[in-house]
Amino acid sequence: MVIAGNWKMFKGPAETDRFLDELDLPSGVEAVLCPPFPSLATATGRGIPVFAQNVHWAAEGAFTGEVSAGMLLELGVEGALVGHSERRQHFGETDDTVRRRCEHALEAGLRVIACVGETESEREAGETADVLRRQVAAIPRHEALVIAYEPVWAIGTGKTATSEIAQEAHALIKELHDTRVLYGGSVKPENAAELLGQPAVDGALVGGASLDPGSFAAICRAALS
Ligand code: 13P
Repeated sequence: MVIAGNWKMFKGPAETDRFLDELDLPSGVEAVLCPPFPSLATATGRGIPVFAQNVHWAAEGAFTGEVSAGMLLELGVEGALVGHSERRQHFGETDDTVRRRCEHALEAGLRVIACVGETESEREAGETADVLRRQVAAIPRHEALVIAYEPVWAIGTGKTATSEIAQEAHALIKELHDTRVLYGGSVKPENAAELLGQPAVDGALVGGASLDPGSFAAICRAALS
């Protein structure tokens, strides 16, 4: 089981340091933290793998506001999220840029959590399977890559997908791509055990509930039950 905490644009270095001082993780679970860029150097070297929230496809160049895989590796960062729905919605990320980011990160030696998921209107229009097919087709096959299924309508809304919805989407993704699939979208200590108990759910990508060391550790414990 992989339990990854995506902190989004929360926690600078001082808060990151406090979080790690307080964090008490159970053994037997593969926990990962994804702090914002300025906090990466504080988070590495503390006994828990650290991933960035994005990575560019070029080794270097005139790409203001982006960072390369080599720069992340130099900090001790082990991997990166790619294609999170917030990047797709607000920052023009496309299936093509997701593919390029994934390929470069993997070639450079980073691990990748590639994110897919349908919006509410796509689900209501019955397009979920088509959207997942299109998004998954852009994601390279690689042993260092896992996919996170994050239905956009369940992110930060408190509306968790039912375990049946999660299971169905994960099963489809696994037919399309031979990889582990994490679930993301309002995962909390209270619902984690049920979601993680589904046969096609191999872990979780946790947003809001990963910001508190107690609730992040509780979700990690739920993964062991
Ligand atoms: P929440 O857990 O806050 O819904 O966020 C999910 C997410 O986007 C993780 O990447």
